[in-house]
Amino acid sequence: ADRTPSVQDLTGRTVLITAGGTREPIDPVRYLANHSSGKQGVAFALAAAARGAEVTVIAAHLDAEPAAALAAAAGDSVRVVSVSTAAELAAAVDERAGAASVVIMAAAVADFTPEVTADRKIKKAGQGERLDLALVRTRDVLGELVAHPVTGRIVVGFAAETADDRDELIALAREKVARKPADLLVANPVGGGRGFGTDANDTIVISASGDVVAEVAGSKREVADAVLDLIAGLLTDGLS
Ligand code: CTP
Ligand code: CA
Repeated sequence: ADRTPSVQDLTGRTVLITAGGTREPIDPVRYLANHSSGKQGVAFALAAAARGAEVTVIAAHLDAEPAAALAAAAGDSVRVVSVSTAAELAAAVDERAGAASVVIMAAAVADFTPEVTADRKIKKAGQGERLDLALVRTRDVLGELVAHPVTGRIVVGFAAETADDRDELIALAREKVARKPADLLVANPVGGGRGFGTDANDTIVISASGDVVAEVAGSKREVADAVLDLIAGLLTDGLS
């Protein structure tokens, strides 16, 4: 159930949220993508707005349902910026991260993009039995944000991992947070029907130092509110 917080504990805070999944064009008709639906990012946006925040969502290819939920909330306190590629998402974050007191990187951002995008449709004739697609690394937006920390700004990362059990999920999340020290890292298992496109999420939240600070299994809205509780606490008490 949606929680209506008794306290508008994010009033006056500017929250920037990336949601959905990027698409990297191969040619005018094809792209590389991922299974992110945008539901978790949109749940964060609605929850943060309900707690009084000024929210901007950088939205990459949301599924119809979260897109409709976000459109219904859009207005003075929820703004939506649509992007497609990882490069566009990075540029949109560049433009707005400076004004944000909280950045929540819920989007699944492509790690690699085609080195060249063909301007004409790639035809199978002329390829033989095999087609090699050269890919190059994209910018790591979260990595850049945490490499240049801003006093008082909270940065939250996500880690969707194919882990067999809780211990492996925690180990993978610790590796990620060691590499990219976000203030909070929200880790969840994916694969085998878990995580993507579902209404529920099963998450472990890790601090920058690798401690498990929360475990939340519930709706994506419940996960969002639990993580926003932690964020509100960090904003009030400062980062330790
Ligand atoms: N992320 C990002 N920019 C990228 C790739 C990822 O900002 N180019 C962010 C995601 O939004 C997420 C976090 O980094 O908040 C972790 O993403 P994930 O794909 O789990 O981790 P990676 O660091 O990309 O490592 P890998 O995919 O190898 O597990
Ligand atoms: Ca990745």
